[in-house]
Amino acid sequence: MARILITSAIPYINGVKHLGNLVGSQLPSDVYARYCRARGHEVMFICATDEHGTPAELAAEKAGQPVREYCDEMHKVQADLACGFRLSFDHFGRSSSQRNHGLTQHFAGRLTDKNLIREVVEKQIYSIQDSRFLPDRYIKGTCPECGYENARGDQCENCTRQLDPVDLINPRSAQSGATELEIRETRHLHLRQSALRQELEDWIDSKTDWPILTTSIARKWLRDGDGLQDRGITRDLDWGIPVRRGDTEWPGMEDKVFYVWFDAPIAYIAATAEWADAHGLGDNAWERWWRTDRGAEDVRYVQFMGKDNVPFHTLSFPATIIGSGEPWKLVDFIKSFNFLNYEGGQFSTSLGRGVFMDDALALLPSDTWRWWLMKHVPETSDSEFTWESFRLDVNKDLADVLGNFVSRVTRFCQSRFDGKVPDGGSQGPEEAAATAALATHLRNYETHMEAIEFRRATAELREIWTLGNSYFQSAEPWTVLREDRDRAGAILRFALNLLPLYAALSEPFIPDAAETIGAVTGDGSRARWPENIETSLNSLQPGQSVSVPALLFSKISEQEQEEMQARFSPP
Ligand code: 2FM
Ligand code: ZN
Repeated sequence: MARILITSAIPYINGVKHLGNLVGSQLPSDVYARYCRARGHEVMFICATDEHGTPAELAAEKAGQPVREYCDEMHKVQADLACGFRLSFDHFGRSSSQRNHGLTQHFAGRLTDKNLIREVVEKQIYSIQDSRFLPDRYIKGTCPECGYENARGDQCENCTRQLDPVDLINPRSAQSGATELEIRETRHLHLRQSALRQELEDWIDSKTDWPILTTSIARKWLRDGDGLQDRGITRDLDWGIPVRRGDTEWPGMEDKVFYVWFDAPIAYIAATAEWADAHGLGDNAWERWWRTDRGAEDVRYVQFMGKDNVPFHTLSFPATIIGSGEPWKLVDFIKSFNFLNYEGGQFSTSLGRGVFMDDALALLPSDTWRWWLMKHVPETSDSEFTWESFRLDVNKDLADVLGNFVSRVTRFCQSRFDGKVPDGGSQGPEEAAATAALATHLRNYETHMEAIEFRRATAELREIWTLGNSYFQSAEPWTVLREDRDRAGAILRFALNLLPLYAALSEPFIPDAAETIGAVTGDGSRARWPENIETSLNSLQPGQSVSVPALLFSKISEQEQEEMQARFSPP
């Protein structure tokens, strides 16, 4: 049994997330966390809302609410949606928590002691009309790298380049549209990331097992030098974590807060501390996940995120951790994702383009989304959501293959064997062949899950479901029954034993359906992982009751597809 710390990139508080956001981090991290728990590992699975910075302020302003109140409400909305999608976080924290204030100020203090923070007089864009500085997302313009016209001041969504507002071509205020801007001087703190270049480079070079997507982005930033420029970690904003060094005031910084990207990843640690607080546990309880001097040296730490987050997690956050000179846990494996597109374009929060988590849950059960999204997770390249593909996969994989098998087998048991696992009869070459094939697919499935390669894992899982159907179909127990009740019973017993197996294997992807399947033979969602396939396929006691579950998955008709497609047609 290992100890595995899993974090999902923390979603911005600025509204309900779309399916592209969900599949870019929270959902795959949940699938992995569920798998690790099922294999008996001790898991700490953490996420939070990212509540500071310009995304929060702009959204609150648009909603006409004070930012704190807006964040309180939206945190609850996002937590409820996470529950709806069965995201099994051990804690869903908040970057605005007191824990994060304390830890962020602590890191700033340590980095200052290590001479890694310096005060710099910066040139910042000031809007005369709005009487304020326009940091990060308060400003928009054309990306100097790729020409994208709606690039934000902090990062270009299109090419992922980290930006400084002054880099933008044709800048304008994102809030008022004002173009009457001037450059003014203001004093800020810079993290001297460049002083850590060698250490970061050696650390990334040592990560030979990381996905190419992760290392290629990290190396690009290291090589270009771009990602390792010394970066401003403070902002002229009201909302955020006040700039202090530990418990000490920072003269000259009274009106400033830390930059959202400085405090957001620290919130992974803070949210684990919030978890301990929420459970009435002491500091030891969270420090054993995060401090290598308090037990975290044997923790495996896995992070999940979209590709646009990679520079911050491979360079900036490690610079904070390494630079502190304290024994904090560094990430062991970064799983990153490309983007999911929507019907020929991008998902977009600002344009309301695509399907958002609340609408998705109102339409169909979360398992249907979970399955489609994970089957098409943008692992090796961008992928695309289309309503047709969604309908076909739900109908075929979930309804025709898995749902149909569960229904046929349980109904047959009810109508011909009194709803009880049959006794007697012996197994033959058909069962031996099915067991051998299952063993192979199971091994592959485990290998892909260990490697965090979800597309391959979903293909294996689907094969495992298909095997049940083809076995039952070709064994024809309904025909055999006419001549040999014992043999028909043996066939049914074998098929019924697949149910707890399917429940256990499917649980990471479709937890609700897994629970229903498990309940058929009384195991619920806690069906045990088949450590030994032979034993597991003989686990049901003859005579034990089998129930017929309600329809597992309804099919989506072409008309329903068209209606949903029309309702969510891109603006
Ligand atoms: O891209 C985003 O949605 C960011 N809010 C992710 C932050 S991840 C981390 F650093 F906490
Ligand atoms: Zn760009």
